[in-house]
Parts: sequence; structure tokens; C-alpha cells
Amino acid sequence: MDIVLKGGTIVTAKETYRADVGIRDGRIVAIGEDLAGQRTLNADGRFVFPGAVDPHTHLELQFMDTVAADDFYTGTVAAAFGGTTTIIDYAEQSKGGTLTEAVQGWRAKADPKVVIDYGLHVSIIDLREDVLDELKDIVKQGVSSFKCYLAYPDRLRDDELLQVMQRAGETGGLVNVHCENGWLVDLMTSKLLKEGKTGPRWHPRSRPSAFEEEATQRASILARFAGAPLYVVHLTCEGALEAAKRARRAGQRVFVETCPQYLLLDIERYDEPGFEGAKYVMSPPLRERANLETLWRGLALGDIDSVGTDHCPFNFVGQKDLGRDDFTLIPNGLPGIETRVPLLYHEGVNKGRITINRFVELVAANPARLFGLYPQKGTIAVGSDADLVVWDPNKRVPLTVENLHMNVDYSPYEDITVQGYPELVLSRGQVIVENDRFLVKPGSGRFLPRKPFSVL
Ligand code: URP
Ligand code: ZN
Repeated sequence: MDIVLKGGTIVTAKETYRADVGIRDGRIVAIGEDLAGQRTLNADGRFVFPGAVDPHTHLELQFMDTVAADDFYTGTVAAAFGGTTTIIDYAEQSKGGTLTEAVQGWRAKADPKVVIDYGLHVSIIDLREDVLDELKDIVKQGVSSFKCYLAYPDRLRDDELLQVMQRAGETGGLVNVHCENGWLVDLMTSKLLKEGKTGPRWHPRSRPSAFEEEATQRASILARFAGAPLYVVHLTCEGALEAAKRARRAGQRVFVETCPQYLLLDIERYDEPGFEGAKYVMSPPLRERANLETLWRGLALGDIDSVGTDHCPFNFVGQKDLGRDDFTLIPNGLPGIETRVPLLYHEGVNKGRITINRFVELVAANPARLFGLYPQKGTIAVGSDADLVVWDPNKRVPLTVENLHMNVDYSPYEDITVQGYPELVLSRGQVIVENDRFLVKPGSGRFLPRKPFSVL
């Protein structure tokens, strides 16, 4: 074997046990006692997790007259430092363009820069007959999930969403929906602006949780009618979760993602002094505090299936301030690709809200399963890629901007010190992070063709 990870406690979504892990040619080839190889990495007293899978990122995304601050190099380096070894980024169709062009364009940006493996979803912005016909080919190219926005000016209408769901159902594609009713958001926004309410604190008031609940319910009903599975991205509130639970109780395949920001930060952040509230402007927005414990309960009870980041960072100076006089011009999005796994471990496992196996399931196994990457990614098993994280449960790290590697000038979690952090990160058997050192070159990650959706 090329490498043996020795003496660690392996944690998967199902099991926790002590064993060595043997790696050859980038794969796990043995799990057992007293393994020997050319190089030994000591994992004694540490956990060994599967590399985490972030199912929701937006690197280099052109959005709201600017571009997300992390490119495919800085973003994937930051992901790796935080224990994530696979991302699934959203390629975005242009108006008049095809989905194939979107995927090709995204690969041209990503392939030379990525340092971890990545897959793609594709966001449908301009639905036409030829785009519906293209869905089958896109799934065959290994891009087996499509995003439909209901929230922004380029949103899909209900009749369009239904057609995407019907085609996706036939082709093995999973439809990911951003559930906010954009028509109602527009109405509320123009009312607020007319009243001179232009600061960041009005952003969450322009898109209250009722608008998310309605859109989640509507998307679930359309998915039922289409007989298709549905993946609700970045769910934030109790009403929307109840809508998804109702659909599940009726036997529908409705899957739910949330993100650390919705588990840890609340609407009061928008009242920070001056323009500071702009740091938290994203869609959906942060919610009233009662929702946070509802989401944690949803994670623990199995009502929420995955934790992604929706990583879409914009600098406070030079980007967020585009909306100093009008909250609708503040680029929407938050950095999070590096902090997701440590935050979920610290706030979830250390605080007794979820078990360590459930933690692995939420950040690695379930995103891999839902998006056609399991068991290549998301678990520790013979035959799986050797994407592994040696986790020091005692290492304490304040999540300040100086300690993080994302290419953005602020951290939303300045006041949080986590306990538990990656010490070593391996991607396909290669050590890419060793404590504070990053060890591989741009382009060492690979594009991952994903299998069609197949979760029952
Ligand atoms: O505010 C957000 N979420 N920005 C990223 C784009 C999206 O809606 O996913
Ligand atoms: Zn997103």
C-alpha cells in the first residue's frame, strides 16, 4: 500500500470503530488492524472522517452586477482546509444559451483551478423546448440535477417548473428548487422602497418566511403531480419544513437541505450598526430565532437530509457596498465553504444536538447519495476514493477572517471558536492539507460525472 492511516477512530454515517486504513492508487484498499505501507500517517487519538461533500456552492458566479469573490482555486483550497474534498457547484445557463454550453463554460473555468474533485448541477435560467430536450443528454454527461429559481427576476413560472420536473422525472435528474415566491418579494420590495426603507434591515422584511413556505408547498405539490423527486435547497424556516414534511408523510421523495448560517445566525444580524447588516444579505434571509432550534431538531430527527453552504461570497468593501443606498443592490450571498464542517461538528456534535454519525451523514454521506456520488465519495469503505480527513477533536480555532482562507474580507462567525478541526486532509490518497500547509497545485482536482438520481 502507498499510505496507511494508523490508529484512528473511523466514523461513517453508520459506524464508529478503531482501525487502520490502507490506500493504494488513490483508493481505499484495506481497513483493518496492523496494516503496513510505504508511508504511515499517525491518526492515533483522532477521528478519521470521509472527506465532506458540499452539495451547494457558487464559485466565480456572476451575480447582481458583480462576481463571487472565490474562484475555483481559492474556493476549493478553502474547502479543503475545512475538511471538504468534493463540491457540487452550480453552472448557470445564460439567456439564449444551452445547458451544454453552461456546463462547458463552467468546466473551462474550473478544470485548471480546482484542487479537490467537483461535480456540477446546472441552473435553468431560460427554459425553451430545446432546453427541455437537452435534459436527457445533460444527465448522460454526468450532470444529473437541475436548479430552478422561483425567487429572482429570471425565475421560472409554475408551468415551466412543472415541465422541468416531468422531464427530469423521466431522465433520472433531480430538480433542486430555490423556494421563495419572487412575485410576492417584488411586491413587498417596491412597497418598502416607496416608504424610504432602503437599509439592510429591510432585506429580510422584503422576503418573509411565509413566502418561502408558500413556494416550498407549491414546489412539493408540482413534484407530486409530476411524479418526480424534489430537492429543496437552503431551507430556513419552520413553515417550509412543515410543508416538506407533509409531502414526505404522503410518500413523496422530497429532500431538504439547510446551511450553517440558518442554524446559527438570526434576523437580528441585520440590525448591526451602520451598514454591517449587509454582510448577512442573502436569499432566503436569516430568520427569527425560534426557527433555528426547529432546524436543529429537523437534522436530529431526519427531516432534513443534508447541510450545504450556498457559498457565494462578496467582499464587504467593494461589493456589498454596491447596495449602500438600496438593499436590493447588495449582492446576495455569504462565505461558508470552509466553515461548514467545523461549525456543524462544534455546534452539533460537541453540543449534543446530533450524533457524530449523523454529522457524517449530513455533511458527506447524504449529499453523495442524493447526487449520485456514493460510495465513491461520502464514506470510508474498500473501493471508495481515499478522500479522508484526520480530525483533531481538541483543536480550537476562532473562526476569524485571519484564520480562514476564503477570498473575502469578513467572516460571519467572528465570535465563534470551534473545537474540532482537520489536521490532515487527503484527496484520492494525496495529502493536500497538513495543519496550516496546503500541498497541491491548481488543477489537481477532477470533474466527477455523477450517476442519475436513484434514492427511493
Ligand atoms: O443569496 C444567495 N443565496 N446567493 C447565491 C445565489 C442563490 O440564490 O443560491
Ligand atoms: Zn445557491
